[in-house]
Amino acid sequence: MCGIVGFTGKTSCCEFLLKGLSALEYRGYDSAGIAAVQADGFAVRKAVGRIDQLREEVEKNPISGVCGIGHTRWATHGKPSLENCHPHFDIDRRIALVHNGIIENYAELKAQLMEKGVSFVSETDTEVVAQLLAVHYENDMKTTLLKVLGMLKGSFALVILDRCAPDTLYCARSHSPLVIGVGQGCHYVASDVCALLEYTRNVYLPEDGDIAVVTPGSTVFYGLDGKERKRVNVTISWDTSAAQKNGFDHFMLKEICEQPQVIADTLAHYIDSADYTIRREHMPFTPEQAKQLKELTIAACGTAYHAGCMGKALIEQFAGVRTDACVASEYRYQTVVEQERNPEGHVFLAVSQSGETADTLAALRKAKQLGMRALAFSNVIGASIAREADTVMYTLAGPEIAVASTKAYLTQVLLFEILALDLAHLRGKISDEELKDALKTLMSLPRQIQSILNQRAIVEDFARANRACHDIFFIGRLMDYTTSLESALKLKEVSYLHSEAYPAGELKHGTIALIDERTLVAAIATQPQILEKTLSNMQEVKARGAYLLLIGTPPQTPIEGCTVWPIEDAPWYTAPLLATVYAQLFAYYTARQHGCDIDKPRNLAKSVTVE
Ligand code: F6R
Repeated sequence: MCGIVGFTGKTSCCEFLLKGLSALEYRGYDSAGIAAVQADGFAVRKAVGRIDQLREEVEKNPISGVCGIGHTRWATHGKPSLENCHPHFDIDRRIALVHNGIIENYAELKAQLMEKGVSFVSETDTEVVAQLLAVHYENDMKTTLLKVLGMLKGSFALVILDRCAPDTLYCARSHSPLVIGVGQGCHYVASDVCALLEYTRNVYLPEDGDIAVVTPGSTVFYGLDGKERKRVNVTISWDTSAAQKNGFDHFMLKEICEQPQVIADTLAHYIDSADYTIRREHMPFTPEQAKQLKELTIAACGTAYHAGCMGKALIEQFAGVRTDACVASEYRYQTVVEQERNPEGHVFLAVSQSGETADTLAALRKAKQLGMRALAFSNVIGASIAREADTVMYTLAGPEIAVASTKAYLTQVLLFEILALDLAHLRGKISDEELKDALKTLMSLPRQIQSILNQRAIVEDFARANRACHDIFFIGRLMDYTTSLESALKLKEVSYLHSEAYPAGELKHGTIALIDERTLVAAIATQPQILEKTLSNMQEVKARGAYLLLIGTPPQTPIEGCTVWPIEDAPWYTAPLLATVYAQLFAYYTARQHGCDIDKPRNLAKSVTVE
């Protein structure tokens, strides 16, 4: 969703602001703007549409200034327009600010300000904060900010310029991410570390409730009580190339192709390949805790939820622990049942690539309030979900830039494989030898994924041949049904084609009415115990005219006219990951056939930080 950048130093801020915003484009936005402090006031440039349009504006009317802020806006309060685009100002243009998140009580605050005669130029909640700061201004911006923050309800990351302190950025965060980068005689601010990678990897990660006063030479943190707080800077290991396309046409394809590497990196972090053991120091359960574990509740959104569904199957089958996978936006409002009020042995697990998804964070907070121990999978160090969880397991996927999640999903499922095997071993469900064999099997994944990637021309040809198809059903049973859900989501989000996932046996209870000769039915069939059943369902849809694709174990008796993308030599627990790679490639090449904006699909944002 929205992106924030800020710079204060001795050189022009403009280059960083524009480059930083470009690096945040992947988050989704519909307008962009920058403001810099100049001797005669704020210089402001805004554009509705892409950053390139903003860049053109700046080229036409260059701006100077060594301290500035920028923003990409994903419209919530008010349509995409120059008026609603950030930065926003107070009436006298003494204060400029950019904001991510939502000020929930903005209507009430706005009404109060209007009674005092303040007029507004935009429909946004953000402008209310700029006007509030001006109305309540007292002594300096830090003092004023402390006062005004107490009036705001909701989530926010704010970066503020005050013409009275022309080299200073005032930052505040509450439930919305912000990072501060340390440069040579300058400081950078961004909502996401990707904007900083080209400039610095030495960053502060402000905590909720922090105010940061950032000048070229220092960053000083304060709490809401106005007292100084100590914060330590950390080094981010992601490198610049991870956030660039490196010769690929799209980030999505690049990230699909990075999967052998990120799976290998994640395996190396959690598994000692010298003796095929799990590195205990990175695991969330001690042997005692594993034995006492009675129930696990997983909550997540979208693709991460599908990883959670995989997690449920893996943990139940390997470790025999009852597991629920919940959509986080539902879980957060669900009735609390008696059992949850006494959470002894009941553990919660949030799964999130960004670590910032609002619903997943709310689900985690609810679980903590209920007294559960809260675990998290996160791809981003220092993200809100990672900080608030009691224990974090990191996916080592590196920055995921394409809006459609691919490599993060595979690493999330991999973490579930490792967690399930660890729990199974600690609970005495599998022997040392069985654990070693399973870990060796996981170690084969990078090679197996690579061999699918090497055949991607076959998937591209199929997508080209079927470009006229408008309805695509993915069917499967058990874990294959989860892979179907993820395959259908991937396809619809990047190609905008109608695609649905159904449990294979459920089709004939209604949905089979939609099947005709213009429908493609893709069956995911990797689970040996129900293979024959899924194959029968394929025959049923074939009889109704659908054309067929099978991703999985090739049938002993070939189905006439059915294309097969084979998965061989993979057991029930790793085959779904391999099937997913085919489905990701199919989604990518289909979207390409349709000329879609693959990395930034319409209406979507990478990190959904609002409800
Ligand atoms: C789909 C996709 C989304 C995310 C979802 C959760 O390709 O990327 O469905 O999976 O918005 O995001 P995170 O994992 O950041 O919590």
